[in-house]
Amino acid sequence: MTFGGFASPVFLAPMAGVTDRPFRQILTACGKGNMYAEMAAINALQRKNPKSWQIADVRPENYPVVVQLVGNDAGLFAEAAKLVADLGARSLDINMGCPVKKIVNNESGSALMKDMPRAAKIIEAVVKATPLSVSVKFRKGWDNEHINAVPFAKMCEESGASYITIHGRTRAQGYSGEADWNIIKAVKESVKIPVIGNGDIDSPQKARQRMQESGVDGVMIGRAVLGNPWLLSQTHEYLLHGTLPAEPTVGQIKETLLKHLYLLMEYYGEKAGIAVSRKHVGWYVRSLYEAKKFREQYTKLTDFETAEKLINDYFAGLE
Ligand SMILES: Cc1cc2nc3c(=O)[nH]c(=O)nc-3n(C[C@H](O)[C@H](O)[C@H](O)COP(=O)(O)O)c2cc1C
Repeated sequence: MTFGGFASPVFLAPMAGVTDRPFRQILTACGKGNMYAEMAAINALQRKNPKSWQIADVRPENYPVVVQLVGNDAGLFAEAAKLVADLGARSLDINMGCPVKKIVNNESGSALMKDMPRAAKIIEAVVKATPLSVSVKFRKGWDNEHINAVPFAKMCEESGASYITIHGRTRAQGYSGEADWNIIKAVKESVKIPVIGNGDIDSPQKARQRMQESGVDGVMIGRAVLGNPWLLSQTHEYLLHGTLPAEPTVGQIKETLLKHLYLLMEYYGEKAGIAVSRKHVGWYVRSLYEAKKFREQYTKLTDFETAEKLINDYFAGLE
């Protein structure tokens, strides 16, 4: 069930502002699953923009990471492809699915689904420039009047992509409505390269059902992993061995949250680390007692010591 040297059919979805190194470290500590970084813009990488550089530099990590690039110029893509190999990427993904205005206005992300010749040129240039395996992540199409995932998948294959990931929504849908797994199945049936299905998977059981129905080679999970880093590994175990690992205890949630906080401090420094930690803290505790009150208190604080104390006090109150 695995392919391309990946150790698992379960993939973390790339999520800008979320799947940074601390998040990946937490997920790998929780068990199995393949890691994706956040998207990095090729023109920012060329300018050596420190934030984009930090995103693309995965050398210190001792597990494989897929680095995703976004942009619209084949020449710049080729340059960036060489760079990410030097910066430790295990594999390279091209973002042709991002729906964000700033990105599509720049003819990047999902806008490339409207320009197949340019998309093909980019994929070919990247494949030629790097020894890494190259994948493409895209959507069902631009909108309901322009659903072209199947021809787009074939174009990716012909252009040299090693595997593809399809999110079963149009650009116009953003993240609303339901992911269409029929189109994912149609994509799987139209190409020989491995296909990863993506959209609305929130449990190991759903992952298995979707895989069986669509025939995809792997699944990618995004939003359901927020605050639940155990889900990737649980899904891996269920798909490969049919076993469902126990849900984490409140003690394990606390331990993981604190570890995540320490990693964020180390990676971003105190001020930015605390800022990034706010959303994660909210996700970790959302189903716990008086989470709203705790979140409100946490949002106001700005230093590590108070953050650590507040977390310890909150969890002590839960015992
Ligand atoms: C906060 C956030 C950031 C995202 N950033 C990216 C990104 O950088 N690159 C990308 O290809 N997709 C990005 N996505 C889309 C996800 O990778 C995924 O395709 C989408 O969330 C659907 O999967 P899900 O239903 O499992 O969440 C992002 C999604 C979210 C919610």
